[in-house]
Amino acid sequence: MKAVIVGYGQMGHEIERVLRDRGHAIAAIVDPAASGATAPSLDEAIRILAEGDSPGEPVVAIDFALPDSVQANTKAYARAGWAAVLGTTGWEDRREEVLAPVRAAGTSLVYGSNFSVGANMFVRVARYAARLASRTGEYDAALVELHHRLKKDSPSGTAITVAQVMQEELKEKRLIQVETVHRRIEREELHVISGRVGSVPGTHTVMLDSTADTVELTHRARSRQGFAVGAVQAAEWIVGRRGVYSVEAFFDDLFE
Ligand SMILES: NC(=O)c1ccc[n+]([C@@H]2O[C@H](COP(=O)([O-])OP(=O)(O)OC[C@H]3O[C@@H](n4cnc5c(N)ncnc54)[C@H](O)[C@@H]3O)[C@@H](O)[C@H]2O)c1
Repeated sequence: MKAVIVGYGQMGHEIERVLRDRGHAIAAIVDPAASGATAPSLDEAIRILAEGDSPGEPVVAIDFALPDSVQANTKAYARAGWAAVLGTTGWEDRREEVLAPVRAAGTSLVYGSNFSVGANMFVRVARYAARLASRTGEYDAALVELHHRLKKDSPSGTAITVAQVMQEELKEKRLIQVETVHRRIEREELHVISGRVGSVPGTHTVMLDSTADTVELTHRARSRQGFAVGAVQAAEWIVGRRGVYSVEAFFDDLFE
């Protein structure tokens, strides 16, 4: 496959490293502003690839850019016949509009807000642990997440996802409580505790607690590398497929 990196910011640089490590050719790096990019726009990259060597080889765009560009980018991928991994976030409220060109062209795209292999393993392990705890009837549950002090949202998107899957398994937890409560916490509340400190890239801990013991499961990100590894594996997976997939379908295949 020929890879095109779209968005040469923090994620784009990480993806470049992982593509090289896994022996993939990088046909273009698209960014209107970043130094080191080889094309300022997708139109320009499409033109370069059409004129280049082996024009028949499948192309996969790996898109970690900005939400404003998503609609125009999916149109361009569909028009060029490229497969795409869409990791850019912040466009979910326009989902059908953004994905329509790919559906209409019959090309392929996988999208998701978390391509991290470890984080996706963690979500699935957390679900299983909550299911076992629920069967015993002995365990209370909570979730603790820590991130760097510049993080804008709280709780993290991953914490919300983990809390939701745990809630599906723990029938008595009817409410996800993301606030500090200045009272006794009710048994039906699943407490999600957020802390912000220094430059922690992201730590999530599931706690299952009984009178006899505590089971703790922790995912601790060290860098953005986990996202990039998952995105490149998803690029390898989407080549040769047809249709629009959420990242869940990719991880179902990877883990099952
Ligand atoms: N899905 C995931 O697993 C995951 C993980 C991390 C980050 N993200 C998302 O990826 C996106 C990028 O994150 P980042 O940290 O690399 O941001 P960043 O700000 O470091 O980089 C974004 C880059 O996109 C470029 N850009 C803007 N418009 C463009 C266009 N039309 N075409 C090509 N490039 C364009 C910008 O010039 C910039 O260099 C964000 O939406 C972020 O939320 C997703």
